[in-house]
Amino acid sequence: MPIERTPLTRTPAWANLAAHRDASRGAHLRELFAADPARGERLVAEGAGLYLDYSKQRVTDETMRLLVRLAEERGVVARREAMFAGEKINVTERRAVLHVALRAPRTERILVDGKDVVPEVHAVLDRMSDFAERVRSGAWTGFTGRRIRAVVNVGIGGSDLGPMMAYEALRHHATRELAFRFVSNVDGTDLVEATRDLDPAETLFIVSSKTFTTIETMTNAASARAWLLAALKDERAVARHFVAVSTNEAQVRRFGIDPANMFGFWDWVGGRYSMDSAIGLSTMIAVGSEGFRELLAGFRAMDEHFRTAPLDRNLPVLVGLLGIWNTDFLGAATAAILPYDQYLRRFPAYLQQLAMESNGKRVTLAGASITDYATSPIWWGEPGTNGQHSFYQLLHQGTHLVPCDLVGFCRSANPLGRHHDLLVANLLAQGEALAFGKTAAEVRAEGTPEWLVPHRTFPGNRPTSTIFADELRPATLGALVALYEHAVFTQGVIWGVDSFDQWGVELGKVLATRLVAEIEAAAEPAAGAHDSSTSALLRRYRARRG
Ligand code: F6P
Repeated sequence: MPIERTPLTRTPAWANLAAHRDASRGAHLRELFAADPARGERLVAEGAGLYLDYSKQRVTDETMRLLVRLAEERGVVARREAMFAGEKINVTERRAVLHVALRAPRTERILVDGKDVVPEVHAVLDRMSDFAERVRSGAWTGFTGRRIRAVVNVGIGGSDLGPMMAYEALRHHATRELAFRFVSNVDGTDLVEATRDLDPAETLFIVSSKTFTTIETMTNAASARAWLLAALKDERAVARHFVAVSTNEAQVRRFGIDPANMFGFWDWVGGRYSMDSAIGLSTMIAVGSEGFRELLAGFRAMDEHFRTAPLDRNLPVLVGLLGIWNTDFLGAATAAILPYDQYLRRFPAYLQQLAMESNGKRVTLAGASITDYATSPIWWGEPGTNGQHSFYQLLHQGTHLVPCDLVGFCRSANPLGRHHDLLVANLLAQGEALAFGKTAAEVRAEGTPEWLVPHRTFPGNRPTSTIFADELRPATLGALVALYEHAVFTQGVIWGVDSFDQWGVELGKVLATRLVAEIEAAAEPAAGAHDSSTSALLRRYRARRG
């Protein structure tokens, strides 16, 4: 059982940060920039092709020094090394946490329980490459000999959000010869709509599930199988139209998929950290083996940066620490991710699972309740500029403080007239408006009537970070995802939680299993089986479901 360390809020660094926050309360970003003309060039860091400008965060050099001290005191470096060395840092599940091994070069050795895992990683990658290229070229055909025209990934959570986000993000680099669909929800509508216009003879299903027991995925996969067999009328068709990605060979076999058509991964890859494992098979089919390897190289570049850059110039550490500052010292309950790139439109959904399933915890590694600090903020977001015409009003003038990460690119994949300049102008404008606002004096100087002045005033002082890259390529996406993976890791170490378990999803699953039995049973549920609300809703549903 892990030994409790000094409680976070009793560490010297935490106390110093709190005192520093109290002493510097009121320093507005307007003043910070006015007092320090070089701020916008100094409070920046670069790594793995990403440029981070955090000068519009409500921090000073002293804040950053104290935050780095906090990372040191909380043992971020030792924990990082333990992760890279394959130690079982997922303590509640007694597992190593080695998504970094998924992008390690063939020459590296990473031991788990005395066994080097790198050769296995590359063996799977090679099998994936072979399969992906056969699907792309048409050499892998369906049961009737027709080439595959549609790839449907069936998975949920980490077995869906990563591949779905990556496909959307890399669409510009993806083959247009194939359609890609992602089915996750147990709501039958998801599968029905995804397959409505597909021809079963030309459709390949990738059943992606680490455990191969997840009810949503198993239900969707079974219905997909029925859809296929209703058309092709021969069980042997399953072998040409279904492949599995899983750690659970026995379950894959039980489902009826030939293990020869299975791509494996390992219990040391968490679901939300798995988009660069075989779970990325759909991504590889979309962008090709080379494109996928470029994606891995981007992840790897950020891993190397995370491992070697000094803490005060280390992008994931800085992003993690700024998140702690905003959440725990400035009281922000949420954080927004605002990609100024349409291809990254599902990045916020991906980041929600990564951050909130990892650090949405209320006990420490040793099981002590966390009562005097906040852990993960609620992440949300939409791509710019769409969000500007929706929720940005609240960001600028609402009563909540919402730190934002603005992500943008210097070159567009689809240069079209002035579009990209307008897009980037908006990104820059929002960072500027959020930071500096517009004072009442400025509003008055425009001749605004006095009664309207408060409405037209922007307080500013709203923190943002800007992440800029040259263009959105596979390598850029890898670096961006690894940036947030390691930022979430850094925060988890500081908060003292297990970032790699997810016990909080279990209770709902258990109750749903019981409820589905009660819904489908002939007999009325036993009186008192549930609270009065759930019982009444259950009775109403049973009476009306038709
Ligand atoms: O329910 C949460 C979860 O366990 C996630 O952590 C995971 O990504 C998802 O379900 C899917 O799990 P699997 O890949 O085993 O189907």
